[in-house]
Amino acid sequence: MKRFKIIIVGLCLISVNLIPFVNVYGQGTSNLPQLGKSPIEEIIAAMTLEEKAALVVGTGLKMGEKESNMGFQIPNQPIPGSLADQTKVYVSGAVGRTLEIPRLGITTIEMVDGPAGPSFGSQTTAYPIATNLSSTWDVDLVYEIGRCMGNEVSEYGLDLLLAPGMNIHRNPLGGRNFEYYSEDPLLSGKIGAAMVNGIQSQGVGTSVKHFVANNQETNRIAVDAVISERALREIYLKGFEIAVKESDPWTLMASYNSVNGATATESFDLLTTIARNDWGYEGIIMSDWDTGKDPVEQLKAGLNLIMPGPYQDTVIIQAVKSGKLSEEVLDKNIAWILKNTMRSPKFKGYEYSGKPDLENNAEIARKAGAEGMVLLKNENKALPIKDKNQKIALFGNGSYVTNVGGSGSGFVMHAGPTINIIDGLINGGQSIEETSKQVYTDYIKENTPKQNMMRAIRGYIKRAVEMPVNEDLAKEISEKADIAVITIRRNSGETADRKIEDDINLTETERNNIENITNAFHALGKKVVVVLNIGGVIETASWKSIPDAILIAWQPGQEAGDAVADVITGNINPSGKLPMSFPVKYEDVSSAKNFPGTPAEKPEQVVYEEGIYVGYRYFNSFNVETSYPFGYGLSYTGFSYSNLKLSSKTFKNQIEASIQITNTGDVAGKEVVQLYITAPEKKLDKPSEELKGFAKTKLLQSGESQTISFKIDAEKLASFYSDKSSWIADEGEYTVKIGASCEDIKLSQKFNLKDDILIEKVSKALAPKVAIDEMTK
Ligand code: BGC
Repeated sequence: MKRFKIIIVGLCLISVNLIPFVNVYGQGTSNLPQLGKSPIEEIIAAMTLEEKAALVVGTGLKMGEKESNMGFQIPNQPIPGSLADQTKVYVSGAVGRTLEIPRLGITTIEMVDGPAGPSFGSQTTAYPIATNLSSTWDVDLVYEIGRCMGNEVSEYGLDLLLAPGMNIHRNPLGGRNFEYYSEDPLLSGKIGAAMVNGIQSQGVGTSVKHFVANNQETNRIAVDAVISERALREIYLKGFEIAVKESDPWTLMASYNSVNGATATESFDLLTTIARNDWGYEGIIMSDWDTGKDPVEQLKAGLNLIMPGPYQDTVIIQAVKSGKLSEEVLDKNIAWILKNTMRSPKFKGYEYSGKPDLENNAEIARKAGAEGMVLLKNENKALPIKDKNQKIALFGNGSYVTNVGGSGSGFVMHAGPTINIIDGLINGGQSIEETSKQVYTDYIKENTPKQNMMRAIRGYIKRAVEMPVNEDLAKEISEKADIAVITIRRNSGETADRKIEDDINLTETERNNIENITNAFHALGKKVVVVLNIGGVIETASWKSIPDAILIAWQPGQEAGDAVADVITGNINPSGKLPMSFPVKYEDVSSAKNFPGTPAEKPEQVVYEEGIYVGYRYFNSFNVETSYPFGYGLSYTGFSYSNLKLSSKTFKNQIEASIQITNTGDVAGKEVVQLYITAPEKKLDKPSEELKGFAKTKLLQSGESQTISFKIDAEKLASFYSDKSSWIADEGEYTVKIGASCEDIKLSQKFNLKDDILIEKVSKALAPKVAIDEMTK
């Protein structure tokens, strides 16, 4: 699998091959039914068994002609002359495509990774990572980012972006958390839906992935996630459900792992019962790349498309001939593919320009990066650094070589030039202290290891280890500078989870550097700012008291440095808030003792004993202190919350809550307002707070107010009763809490629900086959 990725990457590096697409629609033999003109049943009836079997399987990893002659041995190659082989490569570097059957007017769907922007042979934009985007809590801005990504997909002649990733941040060690949005399903679902709507507004498709519970990379291909029905419905499926219902993604990508004993791609419960029947999903359900054991079982489960192919067709043909697979099941899967093929630009004959608006897209990427940065601490107004004459001493390798994203399929391989933090500050007219610049530049030059280009192109880049700054060097620089900025940098990526030591926790060098630099600067009355160039949680509790200010910059995409400079200098007032909790220490996380499962080296099973108590649902309900709570983030201004009003004290169909937010400081700013609900605990354990709404104010000028309204419908009050397979809102007293974070509740009001409401009865599905000793209060 690893080898397969590396080879693909290499090939994408080699060539860009955009073949103008000529629509084959209508060009088939005239007396044959044509997709779009004839009913789908007629098209299917006109297909041979060979065509049918080849259509439910991707056409493999066929590259452009140029690459095929490079002498590489490329896996997943179609057999020369086979149907899969006959499908043209329109855009070289696409990571998968469906079968083209010109005689029936069936066009191909060409797909490309991934969540931080399209990544293939042409120049695209590296957007901020998903976690950076969700930290904006701004669905309009995320829609806009989606629109930009969609513009690149469509204008390069592609059909579908393999994004967004919507798995829950179950545990900070999750290697792909950076590709995902949040520990909370509502935030994840709303941001994901906005992303899908934005991308699809450009006439191209998305793939909401990885469905479901792909919350770790360790043995992702074989681990069985054992999860209660309630935790599945309330936490792990919920975000996907919101995205399906609010954005109609063209495809859903079933994950590598198993859930409650069944491989996700072979789970009828997951794919058919839940996605199709309960949610009414109408797109294509496809597999993650090279996953699942049995193609026949996959098709029976309702997996429409096995990616990337192309080998499984012979097994499918055999199965139909032997009666193991009914042709009816095959036809059903085909119908979903055909229906959605008609949505694609290739089918519609879209004449792409080859020229997406990269300049505009970079601008939006910069804006979103900055809007999603989270100010954790700002004592004595250390930030912003407004005075351009102030000399900034820049420490930390990451100030000079900034990480723009994580690695793997979520890395954007041919992005525009990276703007490092130093470049951004210089672009913004700030003065950089020379000695710090010189020592770091020399050190990084001498200590950066030789790269393995095949790996580097997918973001597996070897970096120089952090340069130690001893007391003498810190002192020398502190005398020449006015303020210090220290960057702490992290990276993680697909195929590996993170580590506690030297990753979640700071390395010894990083810790010493923060101490030495702060001591030296503080001795002269000068301030120190730490910038966290990270993709996910790190430990902050043990050192956060040392510097004056801490800003999470995340991995903000190719415009990183300019976005950081925008916030550091106050061009943009930070308004991002944490989409996950920052624990005091890793061991405090509710899933810590059940991650990555057993046996630890190669887990076959991971039991989600924490149940619904993920992230803040756990910290709040069990009174476990965090270093920074979910929803937390500071601003250069302050906000007051007043006038919380509920439209009624008794719940009927809906209650409206409104609140007034006022900017009480002296600079303009935006505030993310969060609505939590505490539900009555009659028969079920309930988390003490659950996010049920959020909004971001407009840019409020000093003294300006805005009234924010939230609609609370019955569905928001419901919990999932596994014994009844039902969402039920329990009668009793509910508390609406409006907060600046899940721990900083500003105002609250109560209302009553007189009788239980059965919101929805769903199918009995995905019940665990082993007992779970699930956490309760
Ligand atoms: C990843 C997917 C990705 C696919 C195609 C898989 O390994 O899990 O997220 O879209 O490869 O590159």
